[in-house]
Formats: sequence, structure tokens, C-alpha cells
Amino acid sequence: MNFFELVSKFKDEKALSRPRPYTNHSVSFKKQHTAEERTKMLEKVGLNVFNYPANMITGCDFLSDSGTTTMTDEQWASLSLGDESYGSNKGYFLLAKQIRETFGEDWEYDPINEKPSFYLFHQGRPAEYALFKAISTLGRGLIIPSNGHFDTTEANIESNNIEPMNLFSEELVDGMEADFKGNMNIEELRELLKEQSKNVPLIYLTITNNTGGGQPVSMENIKEVSELAKQYKVPFFFDACRFAENAWFIQQKESGYNKKEIIEIIHEMFSYVDGFHISFKKDGLVNMGGGLFIKKNGLFARKYPHLLEFLTDHQILTEGHPTYGGISGRDLMTLVYGLRTVIKQEYLDHRIQQVQQFGQMFIDAGIPVVTPIGGHAVYLDINKFFHGTNMKGEDFGGISFVALLLAGYGHRAVELGYFAFGKFEDGHEKHPRVNYVRFAVPRLKYEEQDLRAVVEAVKALHDHKDKIPGVEVEYGRELTLRHFKAKFAFKR
Ligand code: F0G
Repeated sequence: MNFFELVSKFKDEKALSRPRPYTNHSVSFKKQHTAEERTKMLEKVGLNVFNYPANMITGCDFLSDSGTTTMTDEQWASLSLGDESYGSNKGYFLLAKQIRETFGEDWEYDPINEKPSFYLFHQGRPAEYALFKAISTLGRGLIIPSNGHFDTTEANIESNNIEPMNLFSEELVDGMEADFKGNMNIEELRELLKEQSKNVPLIYLTITNNTGGGQPVSMENIKEVSELAKQYKVPFFFDACRFAENAWFIQQKESGYNKKEIIEIIHEMFSYVDGFHISFKKDGLVNMGGGLFIKKNGLFARKYPHLLEFLTDHQILTEGHPTYGGISGRDLMTLVYGLRTVIKQEYLDHRIQQVQQFGQMFIDAGIPVVTPIGGHAVYLDINKFFHGTNMKGEDFGGISFVALLLAGYGHRAVELGYFAFGKFEDGHEKHPRVNYVRFAVPRLKYEEQDLRAVVEAVKALHDHKDKIPGVEVEYGRELTLRHFKAKFAFKR
């Protein structure tokens, strides 16, 4: 037996536990605060965890996976290669090349010889605002359908007097098991287009579907939406924040894709759309940055050519010269490296398996979470969590739960349910279809031990769920975007 034959008997592919595909580059220690200190602070901020100082989080911070990525050593090193020239800095050209590499040849852009077809913004929402402001010039009574608009996307659409419409899949609404619960409801989309395609300036798919439990969208669904969009001559866009995570699910779960590389799948996904906007704070693996990208030969550019000029003007007025937008030269460099890392198989395997493992720990502890587990977060189903107690919709149990978890155990999650997505209209609460608390897992930040501690804490709350009181909304119930601003107190 030669040496390698011997080694073959002991290969790491046979091991049950795999080490992470990276090591820590630097770490930061957390200050320790007692439950009493955390309680006092939460009282001061009216139980609104957005306003709770992060340096008093003794446990894990799952408020968002956005901008909370731990950057790689390459990214930290690339910061020092940043070029802060006012126009046409080095990073801009590298990014233009990288966008083509990451998203495919349709997105090739030559900054020297072509008019802008991509627009950089400091994060996702200004990119959304620019697009919807441009669209709002097309007329009144417009509707933008999606498989699930994110909250700021929805608010940006509304603030431009356009109606956002969520066409969630049946599997998502009925809480059924399915691999691609993030899909667009094709029947509802077909119906909408049949009745009023003239009022639909754009069709959206959010990949993965954050509002719909972080669930992925299948290639089949992308193709179906694309065909309908073509049939009715309506441009089709992605909200592409978690594009690489979505591609991983297609590779793992959709037939015909398991032999394909992630990059091939991404290229195919992006071949079907006429444009996309993205917050690079997610799958760009950076702490700040966003963009809006219009396909040069796509339907949007052909149907609304004047809007491209509108977008350039808007960007210059509100963010900066098109060659840097709202992003500093050094941050452009980190983005180039982030986009190279995010498509690596070993990165995505580890990233999503970590989230899946976290979800499985909840399931094993008998805690109701949205299944299958999505790509970036675990979503606690609050209605099921409080089932059998006296908690009512208007008691906002999700807000109570999140406050107690932070005060008692030092972990921060966020309510994305009846309070965040609900509305107080004509003296009544209008509940949205879903009522979740989200644990969004920052990329490359936590280890298994951290996740285990969180599940133990949630289990302790679940075991005593009948002792958890509801909350009173002391301020902000009727406001728009109320979850960012409201204040609460526990009911006595
Ligand atoms: N679209 C989706 C699907 C998002 O998840 C977000 C942000 C945005 C757009 C807006 O991007 O924050 O850079 O302006 N989601 C974060 C979250 C905030 O916690 O889910 P942004």
C-alpha cells in the first residue's frame, strides 16, 4: 500500500465535523453587562432594540446581516490600495470589471466609451429611491409587484406614489414545506398583468425573499416571471441583495443544477433580468455600499431611455459623480474583493450550512421556526410560539420576546411581523400576513458555541411563554416605518 492509499482510509471527507474554511484574522472583545444594566438601558430606549447601544450587547447581535460582515484579510489589505481621486478612481474600473465577472457578459460596461448604465449609491435604499423616483415620472396609478418587497423597498415605492404589491407564494402563506418558498405567485402575477399590465412599469423578484422568511427563488420561477414580463413587455428586475445565497439553493435543490458552478448559476439568473439593484452590505461582503445596474440592451433601457439620464442626474445631485457614487475609493476596493469571495463554494457551503444548523437547533428544541430554513436568517413564527397563551395580535408578542431576550440573555433579534409590517389605520391594527422574529446571522462572525447559547436562551423563554406579557405602544403606533421609531412598555 503506498502512502496515499493509506491516507485515503483517513481522508477528511469522511470526518463528521469539518473545520471552518477560514481562520480568525482579528477579534474584538465584548464588554460584559449585567441583566440589570441591560434592563435599565432597554427601559430608557422604550424597548426599541434599534436604539439599544450595540456595545452593551453581551451575547450575539442578530439585528441584521447587513453591513455586519467580518471582512477578509484581503479586504482589509485592499483598503490601503484605495484611490480617493474625485473622478474615475482606480477602484471604479476594477469594480466595472468585477461586475461583469460576477454577473455575466450582459453586464459588461466600459466607463470610458459608454454612457453610465450603472449607478453607485452608499447603500441599497438610495438606489431604490432613485429608481422609483424615475419610474414615478411615467404617470399615476402605477403598481410594482414582487414576490415580497423588503420594508424600505416598499416604503420607497409608496413614497413615490406607486403601489407596492406582494404576491407571496402559496407555500409561504400556508406555511407548507417547499424548497423554493420565496417564489413569486405566478398565477397572481398572470392575473395582474392580464387585467392591468399598462399600470405595471416593472416586475420585481427579491432574491432571496427576505420579507418571506429568507426563502430562495427557483430558476424555474425566475424563468416564468421573465417569460410573463416579456409577453407583456414589462421590464423585469431583481432586488439582488442575497444573489449568491440564492444561487447556492438553486445548486443544492433544483434539478439540473447540482453539477453547475455557483458563478454559472449566477450568470444564468442575471441573464433573465433587465436590471437590478443591490445592497452590497449583504452578498457584497462589505460594510457599506449599493448600486443600481441597468442592462444596456434590456427592455428597461429600450423602453425608458430618458430615465437613464434622469438616474445619472439624480445620482450626481444626491450621491456624487457617477464614477464613485456614494462609495469611497477604499470601500470600492473592498467590494471588488468581497464579490470574489462570495461566490466561492467553500464560503457559501459554510455560510448557509451554519444558518441551517442554527435553525435545526431551534427545531430540535421544539421551537417553531419557518421551515425550511432560509439562507441568511432563522425566523421564529410568533403566532405559533405564543400558541396556547393569552397573547393577542395587538399585544405584539414579538416585541415583548425580543426585549426579554436582550434584557435577560444579552442577545439581540428583531421583530419583523405585526408591528414592523402592520399598520394602524382608522383606529384599528391591520396585520400583515406573516408575524416573525428574525435572527439574521452576520457573515463570518459567529461560531457554533454562540448559536447554541442563543437557542438555549430562546428555549428558556419558550418554556415560560405564558408568563410573557404583551406590550403597550407608548409612542409611534400610527407613524410610517414605525418599528424604527416607536417606544413600548410591558403591559402590567
Ligand atoms: N432589499 C432587501 C431585500 C434588503 O434586505 C435590504 C436591507 C434592502 C433592500 C435595503 O438595503 O439596507 O443597504 O439600504 N436589509 C437589511 C436587513 C437592512 O436587515 O434585512 P440597505
